[in-house]
Amino acid sequence: MSGHARDGGWVLADAFDRAAPTYDAMVALSPGYHDQLRTAAEALVMRLPTGADHGVTVLDLGCGSGASTRAVLDAWTADGRRAADLRATGVDASEGMVGQARAKAWPTTVDLVVADAVEHLESLPDESVDGVLGAYLLRNVPDRQRLVREVARVLRPGGAFVLHDYSVAGSLRARAVWAAVCHGVIIPLAVVKRSDVPLHRYLYTSVRDFDSVAQVCDRLQGVGLVDVRHRSYPGWQDGVVHTVVGSRPS
Ligand SMILES: C[S@@+](CC[C@H](N)C(=O)[O-])C[C@H]1O[C@@H](n2cnc3c(N)ncnc32)[C@H](O)[C@@H]1O
Repeated sequence: MSGHARDGGWVLADAFDRAAPTYDAMVALSPGYHDQLRTAAEALVMRLPTGADHGVTVLDLGCGSGASTRAVLDAWTADGRRAADLRATGVDASEGMVGQARAKAWPTTVDLVVADAVEHLESLPDESVDGVLGAYLLRNVPDRQRLVREVARVLRPGGAFVLHDYSVAGSLRARAVWAAVCHGVIIPLAVVKRSDVPLHRYLYTSVRDFDSVAQVCDRLQGVGLVDVRHRSYPGWQDGVVHTVVGSRPS
């Protein structure tokens, strides 16, 4: 476990360590979770360079048990590209979550690292990465603007940043839906599945208190990313789950 995001003695990475063994089973119950990750991954892959002589390098920040990293690999190969041409590094602060990811089969070009996302970014040279995905990450990071700034620094010109997360602050309806889904479904399911209940309560409050989508877009524009766009998804996630994309100018 890496200690970060302490809140009254409760440490987020510890909570993810405890939830790690049941994490995949919990998200399997979330309709659209993997399809939406795949859509976010496709938005990243379509912005990655073709025929780059340095190979293509991607970071998956907050990779968890590897679902988002897998979505990137699948989107990459579905785009007709060779798995060997993509170097992907999944970074996560929870040893337990990275342990779940490492237990899966990966090409040798995939690295899975236990580290804080901001600290990992700070260890990288300027303009050394072609794409960054952060799926369900940003709201968990204490200094969000620092993370976004670091991503912009490490991206090569033309590189892409894709954020995928819940955000409800911009809409009364979305806030009501989120409260109903959390209290009516997600937290009770965590009890039934013997997953980490405080972590699922934190899921509720962290999303409730997170930026609006407009604020996330402003963060990306504020560090010089361009072509910033966002989309949501059908079903109860409409206006609740969002993918935000921005690019470093070429
Ligand atoms: C909800 S999970 C999402 C995992 C994966 N991206 C997915 O889509 O299934 C969020 C992950 O972010 C990690 N995380 C939270 N804050 C982090 C930070 N500051 N640095 C690295 N990882 C972090 C947690 O440990 C957790 O595994």
